[in-house]
Amino acid sequence: MTAPALLTLPCPAKINLYLEIRGRREDGFHELGTLFQAVNAGDTLSAEPWDALELYGGEGVTGNPEDNLILKAARLLKTRYEARIPRDAGLRFHLTKRLPSGAGLGGGSSDAAAALRLASTLWNLNLPTADLIALGAELGSDIPFFLAPTPTAYGEGRGERLEPAPAPYPFHVVIATPPCHVDTPWAYREAGRYRQEVLGGAFGDSWTRFRREYAVHAGRPEFYAGLRNDFEAPVMAGFPEIRAVHEALQAFAPVKTMLSGSGASVFALFEREDDARAATEAVAPRCRYAVTTSLASHTPA
Ligand code: C5P
Repeated sequence: MTAPALLTLPCPAKINLYLEIRGRREDGFHELGTLFQAVNAGDTLSAEPWDALELYGGEGVTGNPEDNLILKAARLLKTRYEARIPRDAGLRFHLTKRLPSGAGLGGGSSDAAAALRLASTLWNLNLPTADLIALGAELGSDIPFFLAPTPTAYGEGRGERLEPAPAPYPFHVVIATPPCHVDTPWAYREAGRYRQEVLGGAFGDSWTRFRREYAVHAGRPEFYAGLRNDFEAPVMAGFPEIRAVHEALQAFAPVKTMLSGSGASVFALFEREDDARAATEAVAPRCRYAVTTSLASHTPA
């Protein structure tokens, strides 16, 4: 069957409902235990067969497009499956960018995951999900989640070892990104320093218990008050703008306010939609991105 001419995929954002740094590895990466959750807000990526690899987009595509993860993903796939793709096959991508970058929402990773899926289809490879996940893991630790078949997943290893997790309580979510950028390697270093200086050095080991408890209590909103992100204290200590947005959201009494990934975004979980909307309106003027959304209950087809 030949592939259709133009395909479009949503590129949802993710939040981390739980994030524990469990250890430091020989390769410089960290061992994580995280609960990934896709949300119903994100970018949109289209692609059509073309005679070169090109990326178009509006203002949201910043920097040199050649360095963009979308083109890197397509190039990696083309190199790896060279024998099955005509040498002159290209793709023209069009990205509608809404998600901020350097924000802990996985925006660039979600775009790259969609690029791998689009390239696999449009170049008639139709690769199995496991092969796409292996390619995605080479490009970034968060990309496999966006290729996984469930919107809620436990992530271990660098975040690339995934298992489906039960659906969370259907909260209304505020995501707010203050006008600062958090460098991920810096955040890991700060989390290490915080662990040494404040927590006494040892890595925590709560992940297994968290998984067990989440599996039982995922449907109970009060369970979410105990969520944790090991980046939160050290990142908020270094960024007063993030702390201020965290406090402003907290004033609306959500079930939980938390940093997503290594920041800079903060999210808040609300039971009532009008509370969520009021909180978004209050923080939007001091944010580069602010949205009221919901937790995704299915992944894009
Ligand atoms: O894989 P990704 O590009 O997201 O990683 C960016 C950086 O974050 C890595 O170079 C590494 O310094 C750090 N990192 C880490 N442990 C992880 C994921 C990322 O130390 N599990």
